[in-house]
Parts: sequence; C-alpha cells; structure tokens
Amino acid sequence: MTRVFSGVRSSGRLHIGNYFGAIKSWIDLQNKHESIFAVVDYHAITTPYNPKGMKRMVWDTILDFLAAGLNPKKTSIIIQSQIPEHTELAWIFNTLTPVSWLDRLPTYREKIEAHPQNANMGLLDYPVLMAADILIYKADIVPVGEDQIAHIDLANEIVKRFNYLYGPTFSRIKPFFSKGARIMSLSDPTKKMSKTGGEGIGLYDEPEEIRDKIKKAVTDSGREIIMREDKPAISNLLLIYHLFSGKSIKAIEKKYQDKGYADFKKDLAEIIVKGLEPFRQKRKELEKKPRYVKKVVASGVDRARKIASKNLLEIKRKIGLI
Ligand code: AMP
Ligand code: TRP
Repeated sequence: MTRVFSGVRSSGRLHIGNYFGAIKSWIDLQNKHESIFAVVDYHAITTPYNPKGMKRMVWDTILDFLAAGLNPKKTSIIIQSQIPEHTELAWIFNTLTPVSWLDRLPTYREKIEAHPQNANMGLLDYPVLMAADILIYKADIVPVGEDQIAHIDLANEIVKRFNYLYGPTFSRIKPFFSKGARIMSLSDPTKKMSKTGGEGIGLYDEPEEIRDKIKKAVTDSGREIIMREDKPAISNLLLIYHLFSGKSIKAIEKKYQDKGYADFKKDLAEIIVKGLEPFRQKRKELEKKPRYVKKVVASGVDRARKIASKNLLEIKRKIGLI
C-alpha cells in the first residue's frame, strides 16, 4: 500500500500558505492512502524559540491539523520527538551524507544569512532529519510546498547512496506539489508568507483581523488589477482570491477591470472571512476537547512507532549493527 508522510514545524500557527501549499492536499490524500502527518518539533528547535512556549506551539499545530480536516480515523497524527527512531535514523544517514550536500542548500544559506549567530549543526543537518522522517516509514509520497524541492532531492540522494552501500532498502520518494499555490507575504510579495512576522493570514484568524490585514496589504504602483510579473503584490492577492473563490484569474481580472484596489480588497477580505468560517468553528470545538485530542495523538504515535521500530531494526541489520 502506498504510504504518505509529511510534516510541519511547530513554529507558529498555520497560515493560508501552509493550507493551500501543503495541508489541503493532505486532506485529499488521506482518503486514498495510508498516511502519517507529523508536528516536527525537533526541526522547530533549530531556529531560536522560547522553551516555555514550545508545548503550546506543538498543541496548537495539532489542533490546527485537526480543524483543517485531518481525520484521525484515517490518519496517524504524530509528534516527531515522541518517536526516537526518527533521530536514530538521522544519525545513520549523517554517516553517508557529505557535508558539501548540505552547506550549499539555499534554505540553509538563507537562514544563516538572516541569523549568522545561529549557524548551528542542527540547522545544517535539518534536511537529513527530514529524510529520516520520511524514510523511517518508507513513505512513497510526500506532499509539500514547492520550497521543499531541494530537501526532497537530497533525501533521494540519500536513498541512492544507502541502497548502493547496503543493498536495496528504500524506494525513490515522490514529492506531491500543489501547483500554483505558493502564497507570498502581504507586506513583501518577494518573500513567501511565513509563520513569523505576522504578515500572514492565519487559518483561524478572526474576521476583524482578516479585514485589517487585507486592508494593510501592500499593492503595486498603478491601479490595474491584473496578474503580471511586474505586479507581484496584486498578483499574490489575485491568487488568494482565486484559491478561495474557485473563480479563474481571468474572470476575477474582468470583474475588477473598471474598479480600484479598495473595492477589490473589500471583496477579497469577505471571501476569506467566509471561506475560513468553518475552520474557526471547528477549532473552537476542538479546544474544548483536550482529552480527545490527546488520545488522537497517543494512538497515532502508537501506530507509527510500530512501523518505525520494525524498519529501524531492518536498517540496523543491513548496516551491520545487529
Ligand atoms: P513550514 O511552516 O515551513 O513548516 O511549512 C509547512 C508546509 O507548508 C510545507 O510543506 C511548506 O512547503 C508549506 N508552505 C509554507 N509556507 C508556504 C507558503 N507561503 N505558500 C505555500 N506553501 C507554504
Ligand atoms: N522541512 C519541512 C518544512 O520546513 C518540514 C518537514 C520536516 C517535513 N520533516 C518533513 C516535510 C518530512 C515533509 C516530510 O516545511
């Protein structure tokens, strides 16, 4: 049976970029395949964080997963640090990953450029742990945003090298991208929308917050509402309109051809408010059921750990440790 795996760092509340770039496809895939979705807290601690707030962040991400539509009857929802086989396998993979594969990765370069004082080993090793997350379950399909391509490529290099050194063990990982769903920041459309910085629209933002954020979103010079390379801000807003309304970009451009940014933004905010209403409701209900949510995670971890420990045993045998 095909197995699906993906993960999200516990580094803040989910935003609409996470949803359209990754989680929406998880919801579809869980109906067709065995699937495991993880809150990757060991990845989250590679960048500066507040230890007192981490437990809450992990919990929030799990509630966000469930409210977005993950179905615990079909899917295992896990917390990475509760399944030590992930980090054990990462150590094994470290021994066959040349440093030169890692220190040239754009994601690593960007992160150390932004915070030179935080160039820690965990950050360099981030993609190796990600490869281990996937391969400890021998997952076949990994639904992620397009920013993760380099990491999946690297995981597949590890697959090749491991199979070459120790015999056929892992199959090639297939990334699964939601095409055209890369959402950019509302304050700087050259950067992707992210969890930090507050320039993103949270999946569970209240209507007033949404209206306020769309009102403040930067726009381009001129007043045309059109998707074009030299208009990154309005192109991004058009993409969001399209994703929420299901209307084609062409149809939206036509609708607003004689109108200004103010009208467009006002309608966009209302479409988002309406689109996110069911998410907000579901999350509020889940907040009242902590015992249920804890049970969901415990049984997810239990199911996943059985697979992970069996695979780790096979891997340890192959590399001569057992
Ligand atoms: P992260 O928040 O970086 O842990 O990302 C979790 C998932 O959401 C990954 O699969 C990312 O590729 C995806 N993702 C994050 N930010 C965006 C964005 N702005 N647009 C589309 N997908 C995104
Ligand atoms: N690197 C991913 C991100 O930044 C998160 C992640 C960690 C992940 N391990 C994974 C995604 C395994 C898919 C599969 O978003």
